[in-house]
Formats: sequence, structure tokens, C-alpha cells
Amino acid sequence: EFGAVADQLGMQAYLVGGFVRDLLLRQQNLDVDIVVEGDGIAFAEAFAKTTTCRVRTHEKFGTAVIVFPDGFKIDIASARLEYYDKPAALPQVEHASIRHDLYRRDFTINTLTISLNPDHFGQMLDFFGGQRDLKDKAIRVLHNLSFIEDPTRLFRAVRFEQRLGFKIGKQTERLMRSAVQLRSVKQISGLRILHELKQILDESRVVAALGRLDQFDLLTFIDAKLHFDQSTASLFVAAERASSWFDLLYTGEAYRRWLLYLFCLFDNLSNKGAAKVSRWLGMSPADHTLVLEQLPKAKMLLKRLRHRSSKLPHPQNSEIYFWFDGLAIEIILYLMACSDQENLRRWLSLYTTELRKEKIILNGDDLITLGFKPGRSFQEIFIALLKARLNQEIQTRDDEIGFVKA
Ligand code: CTP
Repeated sequence: EFGAVADQLGMQAYLVGGFVRDLLLRQQNLDVDIVVEGDGIAFAEAFAKTTTCRVRTHEKFGTAVIVFPDGFKIDIASARLEYYDKPAALPQVEHASIRHDLYRRDFTINTLTISLNPDHFGQMLDFFGGQRDLKDKAIRVLHNLSFIEDPTRLFRAVRFEQRLGFKIGKQTERLMRSAVQLRSVKQISGLRILHELKQILDESRVVAALGRLDQFDLLTFIDAKLHFDQSTASLFVAAERASSWFDLLYTGEAYRRWLLYLFCLFDNLSNKGAAKVSRWLGMSPADHTLVLEQLPKAKMLLKRLRHRSSKLPHPQNSEIYFWFDGLAIEIILYLMACSDQENLRRWLSLYTTELRKEKIILNGDDLITLGFKPGRSFQEIFIALLKARLNQEIQTRDDEIGFVKA
């Protein structure tokens, strides 16, 4: 239908980017990007008349998003090339605008294009050797200034290399090294680096990807002291194990894998150092607080508990509960990853699977009915009840009533 609409408007429409790449690699990709030679917004609006969907437009960029009732989205962009506005006068520059648009992109494998107009529907356009590089499993830039123009591509190159199991091409690798030497990453904001870093930390081959970032000296732009050595790599592997363990609990609880790995990456920074990096990366206030408060708390706890486990007898459940109470799940998983002692792992596991869900039954109204006067003592009663419940001294509501009366 897109092609027919394009025809009616006298435009050419193309499927581009990651969707085409992943189609050829037979990998799922739900990000559909269409580029039209002409006014993308007019195209999106004309398309919207043919079916039920909404259109959001960004006039400034000449882009639109088509949103279908089920939430599925398609991005529309405009390829315009002022010099060649009248292609009829310059027949030799067929596809000039789409070609020009693609030339601005990062890697050859992301420049593959499929025509949507009915006349040549499904025809693949490959201006820059994208198909060859897909076959060679190579990440290659289109021109020598690519990384200078957009240094975030240094991170993207590593991400695609690891995600697809490809290899960065020799010349592209040289260009990366020289862009690093020119310190081009310094021009991009912490927030944009965080955006790239998050995506890398969310990849399944995260250890290999971080190793690669380190090889290219890219981590030092985040912080001079940041590096990915053997011990960080082992911590990542342990974090991987902790996150699979948590997944298998099927709690349905969302957690951010990238954040867990970020805590691991911060492992060889001081508390102050980690806070500085987190601020520079422009992390959200809530996440920044985790780095500022919970991460140091977790590290202290780790020291204390490591020491403890070798000496004292088994702690009570209530004691375990209050060690970990209030910590974000990503911090708990980080602790799990850091736990090199069986005891520590057992306590964390007990807390995560059982203790943290424990709730008392009685509430404030119940206490009033039982003849207690509202006030600060309520808090103490609730804590005492929770402790008794955690330690399995009470179970039912009647047990609780008996407990508070006593
Ligand atoms: N792009 C680029 N330079 C960037 C970011 C993006 O040239 N710094 C281009 C890429 O060619 C990419 C397109 O813009 O194909 C869309 O970007 P994005 O959605 O980030 O890339 P995808 O290839 O779709 O990657 P992913 O599968 O991770 O979404």
C-alpha cells in the first residue's frame, strides 16, 4: 500500500536501514523505516487516509510516525536533494536523493534499500556494497570521515560487530583508531554516550563487546580509570549468571540488565569516582541516587558480610531481611554477582525468593480495634510483627493478634 500511495503522489518510497539488514540476515526486527524521495509528511498523511492509523509529524525534520491501532509503528523520513529537484532534467542521477540520504549513514550493512513502488516493488538497491559486507560479515563505513562526523559510531561499530558476530573491517578499524587518537569522542555529550553504552550493556554478548570497547580505548572517554580487565570480565560473567538466575524465578518483575552491568563496570572506581561518572553521563535522578547511595551501601555490606560469614552462626531471617531491605533489584543482583561465598549467595537468594515478599496482616485500624492508641509505637509494633513473621514465630492473623496482645 505504501508503494501505491507513493505512486499517486509521484514519489519513490523505500524500505531502509536495520529492517532490511535483518531481513537478509533472517533476524527479527520490528523497527520499520521508510524513506521517500519527496515530502515524507505529505506521504504519511496520504497513507493515513487509506487505512486506520494515526500520524505524528515532526515538521522541522520532515519526518512522521505512522501508528497503527495495535501500537505498531513505522517511521517515515524525507530524502531531499535540492540540486536534483528536477530529476527529469538529469536522468543520469536516478535515485540521487535516496543515495544521498544513505550516504550519510553509518555502515554499509545499514544502507540496503528495497523499493516499494509497484513498478519495481521488492527491488533491492545496494549503492555501497552492503550485500557484499553482509556476506563477508564485515562492519565497514562508507567514507573516511564517518567517525569524525559522528563519533557515536565508534560505539555502534562495536555493538553491531558483537550483536551480529561480524568483524570490523581493517580500514574501518584504522579509521576508528585514528578517530580515538584525535579524541573525537570528547565532542559528544555524556548523555549520548550513556545512550550508546546502555544499548551495548543490553546486548547478549556484553563481555565481548566491553572487551572490544577497551581494546579501542573507548572506555577511557567515560572515565580515565575505567577499564575492562580480567576481574571486571569475571564480574560480568557472574552478573550474567545472577540475571539468568533471577529470570528463572519468573517473578515478572522488570529490572534493567544494563544497570546491573553498569554497576559492575564501575567496580574499579571509588564511590566518588562512580558518582562523578554517573553525573557526567546524565543518568536519571533515580538512577543517580542508586549510584550515589545504594551502590556504596552495597559495597560496605559486602565487606561486612564477607567478614561475618566466616565467624558467626547462621543469622536469623529477620536479620537477613534488614540487611537488604530497600535495595533496588539491580543492586541485589549486583551483590549476588559479587558474592564469592556460598553463605552470602544463600542469604541473598533467601531474601530475593522469600523474605522480601513477607507482609504482615494486621493494619493500623486493627491495632486501634485491639485497643492500642495511634502513635509512634505502631511502627515498632509493625516491625516486631514483621520480625516474628520472618522468623516463622507467627503465621496466621490470630497469631499476630496473640503476639501484639502479649
Ligand atoms: N544511523 C547513523 N548514525 C548514527 C545512528 C544511526 O548513520 N549515529 C543510521 C543507521 O544507518 C541506521 C539508521 O540510522 O540504520 C537507524 O538508526 P537505529 O535505529 O539506531 O539503527 P538500527 O540499524 O535500526 O539498529 P537497531 O537494530 O539497534 O535499532
